[in-house]
Amino acid sequence: MKKSVNDFKMNVLSRSVNESFCRAVVGAFAALCDPTVEELSDLKTAVSEAVTNCIVHGYRDRPGRIYIDAALLEGNVLRVKIRDKGCGIEDVSRAMEPLFSTAGNERSGLGFTVMESFCDSVRVRSAPGKGTVVTLTKTITGKCDE
Ligand SMILES: Nc1ncnc2c1ncn2[C@@H]1O[C@H](COP(=O)(O)OP(=O)(O)OP(=O)(O)O)[C@@H](O)[C@H]1O
Ligand SMILES: [Mg+2]
Repeated sequence: MKKSVNDFKMNVLSRSVNESFCRAVVGAFAALCDPTVEELSDLKTAVSEAVTNCIVHGYRDRPGRIYIDAALLEGNVLRVKIRDKGCGIEDVSRAMEPLFSTAGNERSGLGFTVMESFCDSVRVRSAPGKGTVVTLTKTITGKCDE
């Protein structure tokens, strides 16, 4: 297991305004290790997708809490865990297929595809009725000023 060089945890209500709040907070944390503009924007976009999924799918637009646990690990690896205690996902591998969505025509079913293309790895653990944890990892080429 890689050691944490820096980390933070927070939780917010599952309100849609908090999508941009989470994106900005994780972005500010990631900015501490001097990412490129592209690395930073990719990570922020992936976080937005995961947080939006907690709001619209996990809690189905009802109030709940979203838990974020972010760490800078040895080797300039950023790891961001985004967790909800919502409805969970029945079939994770199907949910992660491009264009798969349970929201019909309202959504494009590309959230996980975006996360996978913008991060080095995306791990999803979910239990129906209990919730979902999405773990994003991304190596940053910059150097942390520790
Ligand atoms: N946190 C979550 N809780 C419950 N279900 C989820 C969660 N995240 C994703 N899902 C399920 O996985 C499916 C695929 O998610 P994905 O983000 O790829 O697409 P989408 O959210 O449907 O559409 P888009 O992200 O393009 O707006 C969702 O339709 C939903 O059924
Ligand atoms: Mg989505």
